Amino acid sequence: MSTYNAAIIGYGRMAQGHVRAYKEAGIPVVAVADISEDALNRFREHTDAEHTYTDYKRMIDEVSPDLISVVTHDRLHCTMVVDAAERGVKGIICEKPMAMNLEEADRMLAACRASGTKLTVSHQRYYMPQYAQARELIAAGAIGAVHSAEAYLLPSCIHTDGTHTIHMLLSLLGDPRVSHLLAQVDGHSGQMYYGHRVEDAGTAFIAFENQVHANLSWGLAGRAPRVPLRPVQDFRYHGFIIHGDKGRLELDGDRPVNDTPILRIVRGTTVEPIDLQPRKGAITLELEDLLRSIETNAPHPLDGQNGRDVLEVIMGCYESARRRRVIQFPLEVKENPFLAMCEAGDFPA
Ligand SMILES: NC(=O)c1ccc[n+]([C@@H]2O[C@H](COP(=O)([O-])OP(=O)(O)OC[C@H]3O[C@@H](n4cnc5c(N)ncnc54)[C@H](O)[C@@H]3O)[C@@H](O)[C@H]2O)c1
Repeated sequence: MSTYNAAIIGYGRMAQGHVRAYKEAGIPVVAVADISEDALNRFREHTDAEHTYTDYKRMIDEVSPDLISVVTHDRLHCTMVVDAAERGVKGIICEKPMAMNLEEADRMLAACRASGTKLTVSHQRYYMPQYAQARELIAAGAIGAVHSAEAYLLPSCIHTDGTHTIHMLLSLLGDPRVSHLLAQVDGHSGQMYYGHRVEDAGTAFIAFENQVHANLSWGLAGRAPRVPLRPVQDFRYHGFIIHGDKGRLELDGDRPVNDTPILRIVRGTTVEPIDLQPRKGAITLELEDLLRSIETNAPHPLDGQNGRDVLEVIMGCYESARRRRVIQFPLEVKENPFLAMCEAGDFPA
């Protein structure tokens, strides 16, 4: 059994994945905090942990966990991460998206820096075999020098589901720095997701400082309900085509479609399917890297700065849509331009 213990804030749907990861890593989850009695009862049924709280700050003060998972809705991530860091927690896994805007992200980073807390933002797909192997193949030169990329996200919005897509796009390309981008979003339906307004669709052209560029479409723009676009209709969750001077890498997302291999390299008319190697659970691997980071100060691929870089692209897309112009990076705006547009009535029904 590990020398670490853990506690969870928010015991809803996604917390189950965190509990499984702690179990696989041999780390006891000793307490949970949730404002819902139903959630706390579920936790008592699922585990033999004794400590349940409705006040997460009291939980941290009384239990002093080494590790905290913040698995509540997006608006609560910032306050909870800052409160946990200020109480001396060693490591935090914060669910994605990191925060509602860059001002919050900066506060989270500052609080963790001040307390020496290691913060990760849970873009856990990074560790799934198809994405990890795709990244390794591209880095090893399997498609030559990369010049461009396409990414498609089937769900609607980049500030919830699409944060994974933007994270993956950046990581497949080797985390290049964004130079500038141009984007448009449609937020007319007024839909809410995890407690905040989100857009229905969008599209972006992203240019990187290393002269690579990417096109990203999401929601209705990347799904076209009335016109079955190919290859978009065949992706599960999201999909990527990375173009190099010796071929292209095609990645169909989370699950295979029919019998098509989920990951393949295409050179001319030759298609090379890539066999996937099984790995441990994605959040377990994220957690193991977090422990390594706590013990050796090793950089974590999903650290808070990485989460902020992804959030900066999301906010950059919104800012480009708001200002109807190309946006240069680094981004200066600290508020959430999409929510500001909603409040200003820019998306009448
Ligand atoms: N990484 C992923 O693949 C992935 C997948 C799904 C969701 N998420 C993210 O996980 C987060 C949670 O999503 P979910 O689907 O589990 O939501 P959920 O609604 O199922 O669970 C959230 C829980 O937080 C609790 N809560 C609310 N306020 C609280 C407070 N003040 N203190 C303690 N608990 C409180 C709620 O009672 C609820 O039980 C979201 O930010 C979402 O974006 C990530």
